Order: sequence, then structure tokens, then C-alpha cells
Amino acid sequence: SVCVQGGSRVMGSALNALWVLLAAAFLAALLLELLQAPRAGLGSCLFHDLIRYGKTKSGCGQRQAWRRLLDVPKRWFSHFYILSVVWNGFLLLLLIQALFLSRPFPIWLQDLLSALGGASQNQDVGDKHLSVLLVLMLLLLHSFRRLIECLCISVFSSGVLHIVQYCFGLGYYIVIGLTVLCQVPANVSNGEYLFNLFMQVCWYHILGIMMYIWASVHQHRCHVILANLRKSKSGKVVSLNHSIPFGDWFERVSCPHYFAELLIYVSMAIIFGFQNLTWWLVVMFVLFNQALAAVLCHEFYVNKFSCYPTHRKAFIPFLF
Ligand SMILES: NC(=O)c1ccc[n+]([C@@H]2O[C@H](COP(=O)([O-])OP(=O)(O)OC[C@H]3O[C@@H](n4cnc5c(N)ncnc54)[C@H](OP(=O)(O)O)[C@@H]3O)[C@@H](O)[C@H]2O)c1
Repeated sequence: SVCVQGGSRVMGSALNALWVLLAAAFLAALLLELLQAPRAGLGSCLFHDLIRYGKTKSGCGQRQAWRRLLDVPKRWFSHFYILSVVWNGFLLLLLIQALFLSRPFPIWLQDLLSALGGASQNQDVGDKHLSVLLVLMLLLLHSFRRLIECLCISVFSSGVLHIVQYCFGLGYYIVIGLTVLCQVPANVSNGEYLFNLFMQVCWYHILGIMMYIWASVHQHRCHVILANLRKSKSGKVVSLNHSIPFGDWFERVSCPHYFAELLIYVSMAIIFGFQNLTWWLVVMFVLFNQALAAVLCHEFYVNKFSCYPTHRKAFIPFLF
């Protein structure tokens, strides 16, 4: 009966269904790309427009003018992180108030979380509070670092993304914060003492935080390496071309920053104690979505540079 209850809870969550759907969509797109399935006509154009962005857009040939009408600059990536910092910062503030000041979430948020989280929203598992607090803080920190990188480090060319991809990115950072918050009951208002929260610290919190820091440091280094490809020693932007990156995890894979992104989400699954199904579904989504982007990027490098290092994998060192 425990299994049946658990099963209905899993299926009953709109959020779980959403993450399964998104992961499955990106897996299907990845398989189509890997199998090089023949595609033609308008459907093919739309497929390429929705899965490619930035430098890999050129992989689908010259795009007609009407298709370019729906493009937005890739440097608008920063908007994702501005939205994430503001929205997830707001959610973190509400969570802190609920946990420490017994101030319940606003009614609209309680309703939203209940609708998204289904039956799991009624279950108060006290020892999850620390995990949820930590993951929301780390998500905010991640978005803040990415924002700084976008604004102050990365050098963007005239690359573009489709308006649908742009809206999807904005929606993603709204839903990801709600997904974290759904792991506590919608009506949580504990009035916890900080000390009580410290008492919840487990080995998996420490392990997850260490992995998060390790992956974040490497992701940051990779973004700096990419930016430096376009800068002189004095930091002046001298080119907007794409060239072959070397150093750090680039020695093993074409897209180490995508691999680091995956590790960051895995580190959060660890902080949730390995047991949070919803978060593993998020990890699946990030796995397939970043794998697809990495495959397209690897294909771009191999086609563009005849001297491209042959031992480099696309995404996961030694494996993929
Ligand atoms: N969680 C998610 O679902 C998700 C989704 C997408 C991205 N992300 C993360 O966001 C970060 C950025 O992703 P992205 O797809 O924008 O990465 P990207 O295509 O590698 O671009 C990152 C920056 O490096 C530049 N660049 C890329 N390749 C270059 C090369 N060969 N030579 C010179 N400059 C180059 C890009 O300029 P251009 O303007 O020329 O492209 C851009 O400024 C990654 O860490 C990724 O993991 C996360």
C-alpha cells in the first residue's frame, strides 16, 4: 500500500508530469539528431529553429528572412538570470519568513504550489526544510554568477535564439524555483530556530555543496576560457569569431560548461538526500537538453576545424 500511495503521489503531481514531458521531448530531439533522421520541409525548419541556437544555428544552412523575424539576440541570455535572481530571490525571502518567522506563504502562492505539487504538497517532512533552503540558495547563487558572467565576462557575437526558446528559458527559471519550493508543504510556517535547522545537517548536504562548488568553479573557468578566445591579453575584445577552446575540462570534452551544468543539478539532487524523484526528473531534463546542445556544438567544431582534437567527446568525459 505504501508503493501504491507513493505511485499515485508521483503521478498526481503536475510538476512531475511536466518534467517528464520536457525530458522526453529533449530525449526525442537528441535521438533524432544522433540518428540523423531524414527531415524535410517546414517541419524540418521548425525543428532546427527550436533545437539550435547561437553558433549551431548555421548548421541548418541559410535561413529564409521570414524565419529570422522570430530571432532574438543570444546576448539576451542575461534576461534569464535577471529574472531568476529576482524571482528566486523573492521565493527565498518568502521561504525564510515562513521557516523562521512563522509567516505563511501568500495565499496565491499556496494555491499555485498545491496545484503544481499535487498530493505531495500536503505532506510535511520536517527534515526537508534544510535541503529546500540550501537548494534555493544555491540556485540563486548560480543565477547570480551566470548573470555576472553574461554581463561582465562573456563576449557575445551576433548569434541568435528563437523567440520560443527565449520564452521557454524565461519560463524555465520561474518553474525551477517553484519546483524547489514544492518540496515543502504549501502552508509551511514553522517558526524554526536556526539551531534546529543546523541539527538537520547530514553528510549528503556537505557532499552536495562540495560538488556544487567544484562544478561551479570549473564552469566559471570554462566560460572565462571561451571569453578569452575573443580578447587580447589586455582584455580588449579583438574578435567575434569562434575558435577551438583549450584548457581545463575542454581537454576532454567540447562542452565542459554543459557537463558542469549537469553536475550542478546532480549536486542539488544529492542535497535533497538522493531521494527526491521530482528533482531527478529535473536532472533528466538538464541531461537531455544539455546533451543535445553539446552534440550540436561538437558537430559544429568537427565540421568547422579539420584539426579538431579527435579524442574529445562532446559532453561527458570518456563516455559521450
Ligand atoms: N540549465 C539549462 O537548461 C541551460 C540551458 C542552456 C544553457 N545553459 C547554461 O548556460 C551557459 C551558456 O550556454 P550557451 O549555450 O550560451 O554556451 P555557448 O554557446 O558555449 O556560449 C557561451 C559564450 O561563449 C561564446 N562562445 C561559444 N563558443 C565559442 C567559441 N568556440 N569561440 C569563441 N567564443 C565562443 C558564446 O558566444 P556566441 O554569442 O558566439 O554564441 C557565448 O558568449 C552554459 O554553462 C550552459 O550550461 C543551461
